[in-house]
Amino acid sequence: PLTTCRALVMFGATGDLARRMLWPSLYALDCDGLLPPGFALIGAAHSKASDTEFVARIREAVQASANGGLFDAAVFDRFAARIRYVSVDAGTAGGIEPIRAALAESAPGEGGVIFYLSTPPTLIGPICGALRESGIADRASRVVVEKPIGTSVASAHETNEAINATFAEDQVFRIDHYLGKEAVQNLLALRFANAIFEPLWNANAIEQVQITVAETVGVEGRWGYYDNAGALRDMVQSHLLQLLCLVAMEPPASFTPSAVRNEKVKVLWSLRPITQADVGAHTVTGQYAEGYAGGKPVPGYREEEGANRSSDTETFVAIRAEIDNWRWAGVPFYLRTGKRLQRRSSEIVIQFKSAPTNIFAEVGASLAPNVLLIKLQPDEMITLSLMHKKAGLNEMALEQVGLDLSIEDVAGGSRRRIAYERMLLDVLRGNSSLFVRRDEVEAAWQWIDGIIEGWRTTGQKPRPYGAGSWGPSAAIGLPERFGHSWHE
Ligand code: BG6
Repeated sequence: PLTTCRALVMFGATGDLARRMLWPSLYALDCDGLLPPGFALIGAAHSKASDTEFVARIREAVQASANGGLFDAAVFDRFAARIRYVSVDAGTAGGIEPIRAALAESAPGEGGVIFYLSTPPTLIGPICGALRESGIADRASRVVVEKPIGTSVASAHETNEAINATFAEDQVFRIDHYLGKEAVQNLLALRFANAIFEPLWNANAIEQVQITVAETVGVEGRWGYYDNAGALRDMVQSHLLQLLCLVAMEPPASFTPSAVRNEKVKVLWSLRPITQADVGAHTVTGQYAEGYAGGKPVPGYREEEGANRSSDTETFVAIRAEIDNWRWAGVPFYLRTGKRLQRRSSEIVIQFKSAPTNIFAEVGASLAPNVLLIKLQPDEMITLSLMHKKAGLNEMALEQVGLDLSIEDVAGGSRRRIAYERMLLDVLRGNSSLFVRRDEVEAAWQWIDGIIEGWRTTGQKPRPYGAGSWGPSAAIGLPERFGHSWHE
């Protein structure tokens, strides 16, 4: 099916994600000459608008986005010439009929069509059904779906069945935009293009791994979605588990989509279930209360506009995960994510075991373990911390210093890409290595469902934490119970 494509149809074309990320990313690809000549872009949404009105909105969206600096009137005119808008009723074959006419007009000829479903998850099944019944999708089409795929293993299975009733698995591109981040892809290069780490990349040398995705934003008007999801479903099921897979996977046989994804899914299958018996010791949840963000007072989660005043949804979660396989037996993977935390910071910390003995103890020096720190955002950095002798005539005073590799410096000032640029380009090229396969989604849900069930049966409720803090104090205690502490 992986022929060249002639058009992309975007469902949810006027939505928030499309405005902030998707149109600005498509525009950037056009700037770089990466959209084929004649490639058409068809926006589809419920509301009525003319092509001209729609293009004006896209222009504003591009200018206001992170790619605003790329704006160039001449390039935009070329981009705008590709764009059409159709008003659709996305759930029925008849309702999406305007897409057929728009495709015939703007993108006649051979080549597949990409259907990008930037819509609420409840529309995935109906849209796929409508595309099948109408015959608008065929074996040459590709479909791109956004997370969340379901809210449990059962609902994910149902959604995947609906997708696969229209599209074979090799036509499906399930987005996890964390895989489009430069530093995340660099993790694959770090592990599999360098020989020095692999002999150490296991339970013999590694003491613990930490994955933190801390956000300063709150629920940002997404109450309807977020309150039914919470941090575990919204962030851990997708982004954090994908990061965990990339850290923990075995070296794939090649860099093909199936080789990479085969290794990732094995990690998910090896996650030790967290159940009623250990959910209390292995997880901590929190919900932000009022506090500060960027120096300004902000309301608590339950006081946000449109909030359910008695919501028990977690906006923070910390987990001690374990992977039951030969490589990782006994190594804890501490995962932590939350909204309204003190700083925006995403990082992976690989802490090695301490030196077996300290020959410098007699001269009063203590040793800190080596740490490989991979920072994903806001800065992209890799730091390897080492013990080092303080310069001077001291007997043997030691300090910990970092070998720093700033991805920005290495990139020599080249523009930082929106993750969606990479993802969209890979869809155009038909490369699904960075997309999540059906079995990965369902394996991840399987593990998440166990935790949710554990919380339900034990009645575990989120603890309040002040906006602008590092989450509930119990979260600090979580690794401490096992002799570890969060990386500062
Ligand atoms: C999304 C979540 O998938 O990722 C949001 O639904 C979250 O709640 C966002 O804010 C974080 O993405 P990024 O790229 O800003 O770290």
